[in-house]
Amino acid sequence: GLAIGSAVAGGGHHEDAQYPDPFTSDQPYRDVLSSEFSSLSPENQMKWEYIHPQRDTYDFEAADRIVDFAERNVQEVRGHTLLWHSQNPDWLENGDFTPEQLRDILHEHISTVVGRYAGRIEQWDVANEIFDGNGQLRTQDNIWIRELGPGIIADAFRWAHEADPSAKLFFNDYGVEAINAKSDAYYELTRQLRAEGVPVEGFSAQAHLNLEDGFPADLTRNLQRFADLGLETAITELDVRLTPPESGTPTEEQLAEQADYYARTLQACLRVRTCHSFTVWGLPDKYSWVPSTFPEQGAATIMWDDFTRKPAYHSLLDTL
Ligand code: XIL
Repeated sequence: GLAIGSAVAGGGHHEDAQYPDPFTSDQPYRDVLSSEFSSLSPENQMKWEYIHPQRDTYDFEAADRIVDFAERNVQEVRGHTLLWHSQNPDWLENGDFTPEQLRDILHEHISTVVGRYAGRIEQWDVANEIFDGNGQLRTQDNIWIRELGPGIIADAFRWAHEADPSAKLFFNDYGVEAINAKSDAYYELTRQLRAEGVPVEGFSAQAHLNLEDGFPADLTRNLQRFADLGLETAITELDVRLTPPESGTPTEEQLAEQADYYARTLQACLRVRTCHSFTVWGLPDKYSWVPSTFPEQGAATIMWDDFTRKPAYHSLLDTL
């Protein structure tokens, strides 16, 4: 009953520069995706800037390819994402729209994108990263919340539910693995929205972990409190970054510790009854977003660049 997923590379802002689109050109990569995983998440291909590049233009090509591939291989798909502060197209961010227009734009986008894949996407990250690290709503950098107020979040869930009643609808964020101000904010908001009958059905932790930050020890307890609210839970973007020594190659100790972080994250999901989806944020290291995003860090995935398996891969298998 547990889907094990990977992000599907493509469209990354920095990290893809050195490679042609892995999903269309790297057959060993495709083979790993189809043989090792039972769920796929488009890493970028369903984000606004890719799927809705102009106000009147949608580009479904890359997203369709992933959903078709998943269907052929009897895999689930996690849709990512509909309401976010990042990776929005310029026409939207700098568009000078009235609130009424913006509301219509979001409604149309959600109906169109969710409707296109209705019945084929198990989980949708409807709202991504709406809180900051202090548990405050992103009222400045999130265009939707800034221009339309927090009520737009409930509307996004309602519109997604209308477009695909069978998809499970999620809040998704990073830094919410532990019990902290940010995850508390989600806990309060989901409780309130569900009391109002808003179709919020899941809470997921991205789990972009870092060996230097330590492991979020209360991950299980945190997921469990959302499960107790009646929510699906999930791990959606797991990677474990580290700072290798000068040589660039991680030490045995780092790899062992990384393997432990991967295993403990999977254990947490296995322990929580409503956690049915566990996704790593891509592989192998050469296609990971980490080196281009976090200076000095890397080696965050479960496979080496030639697809040989790291200790982290084996520790996941041993945990299952
Ligand atoms: C990242 C992708 O991995 C990169 O390719 C892209 O350049 C930027 O976005 N949280 C999320 C993901 O919800 O969408 C982000 O993905 C990583 C952090």
